[in-house]
Amino acid sequence: MPDKSSESRFVFPRWANVVVPIALIALAGGIPYKVLMVGLIGAPSTTDVGYQPVQPIPYSHELHVNQLGMDCRYCHTTVETSAFAAIPSANICMNCHHAIRKLNSAGEANPKLAALYKAYDSGMPIEWVKVHDLPDYSYFNHSAHINRGVSCVSCHDRVDQMGPEGVHQAKELSMGWCLKCHRNPTPNLRPQDQATNLMWGYTMTQQEIDEVASLGVDVAGMEAGKALTDQQRQKVGHAVFDMENIREPINMSDCSLCHR
Ligand code: HEC
Ligand code: HEC
Ligand code: HEC
Ligand code: HEC
Ligand code: HEC
Repeated sequence: MPDKSSESRFVFPRWANVVVPIALIALAGGIPYKVLMVGLIGAPSTTDVGYQPVQPIPYSHELHVNQLGMDCRYCHTTVETSAFAAIPSANICMNCHHAIRKLNSAGEANPKLAALYKAYDSGMPIEWVKVHDLPDYSYFNHSAHINRGVSCVSCHDRVDQMGPEGVHQAKELSMGWCLKCHRNPTPNLRPQDQATNLMWGYTMTQQEIDEVASLGVDVAGMEAGKALTDQQRQKVGHAVFDMENIREPINMSDCSLCHR
């Protein structure tokens, strides 16, 4: 004989077990409808580690950042001041490439730079292909991170080692990945003015050690030319956490922080 009581518990179809709690959370937290629907139907993949589209110009970060010593903010001018990190216009490149507009033996301009000169002469933008791209229903803000001492390297890895083959996506950029750091940011915090210095922590200079000491961190065991240990990074992170007044984990996982 079928057990009536257990049958009646399944009056709602199975999917309701998932939908009802999500809908309730959504209502309570005021999550936009879009997020809810995407969650139920399936999100497009942005977790594409290794994605490396072909770019119109074989621009090398390794050459310009590592060899020529350029700072990220020379080109990504808005990264400290706004949500979006600006991609440089042809004008910025031409600050230098005017002078080094070399001709080959046939009298032609360097083919690697053809798209740059074309954009500059026509006034049209260079058609760079976006590498990192979160879905529209999630909100990200560069300045909020850079100004709290989270470095580019935490999210984009060693861009200063990426060559003419272009930038690739190094991290997952999934919600779980964001939350992992939001719940425990200290290992990823450093003095705010070192956010664009991708070498920081790998080979410390004496000046960088002095800066850390000025935050009240015990620098015993830190040596110029050496990498910081995980424990030393934690110490620096704790000091920055306090100094920058970083919000507690509970507030950092609030749905409305990233879904507005
Ligand atoms: C001389 C200018 C210049 C400098 C300096 C520079 N970049 Fe870039 N960056 C570019 C250009 C041009 C692109 C677009 C082409 C590409 O994606 O390879 C780009 C793309 C990127 C991207 C991928 C953007 C996307 O589409 O998702 C990241 C991440 C990035 N840069 C990080 C950095 C970091 C970190 C630094 C400093 C260590 C830096 N860049 C310094 C010019 C520059
Ligand atoms: C601060 C000066 C400076 C700026 C700004 C700059 N470059 Fe360069 N770039 C150089 C130098 C120097 C070289 C090496 C030139 C050489 O070896 O002949 C170079 C080389 C290159 C090369 C390789 C050329 C080859 O023949 O291999 C490309 C491509 C390039 N740059 C693209 C860009 C783009 C795109 C931008 C803007 C996003 C840019 N550069 C901004 C200084 C600069
Ligand atoms: C906390 C993680 C994080 C940090 C730190 C970070 N980025 Fe990003 N970056 C992202 C994400 C996520 C995207 C994709 C954003 C989107 O699609 O809305 C992105 C996109 C970009 C883009 C493409 C334009 C844009 O804004 O979508 C550039 C250029 C870039 N980052 C450069 C940098 C540079 C330079 C730094 C350091 C000064 C940096 N990023 C620090 C996570 C980060
Ligand atoms: C490596 C650590 C780290 C990663 C990874 C990270 N964050 Fe953050 N995020 C922080 C820190 C630290 C803050 C600053 C908190 C504060 O000011 O109290 C922050 C702040 C924010 C804020 C608050 C902006 C504001 O208005 O104040 C948003 C939104 C945000 N992060 C979104 C994201 C998203 C989306 C991702 C993933 C794509 C992400 N973060 C990945 C560390 C991280
Ligand atoms: C730190 C930022 C951050 C916070 C806080 C956050 N999310 Fe997300 N969420 C994201 C990002 C980024 C994505 C897109 C991930 C992707 O493309 O795979 C996302 C995706 C989603 C999706 C789509 C399905 C999925 O899992 O990929 C749903 C549903 C969702 N979030 C609900 C929530 C709810 C409910 C909360 C609160 C409990 C929350 N989010 C808190 C950043 C955040």
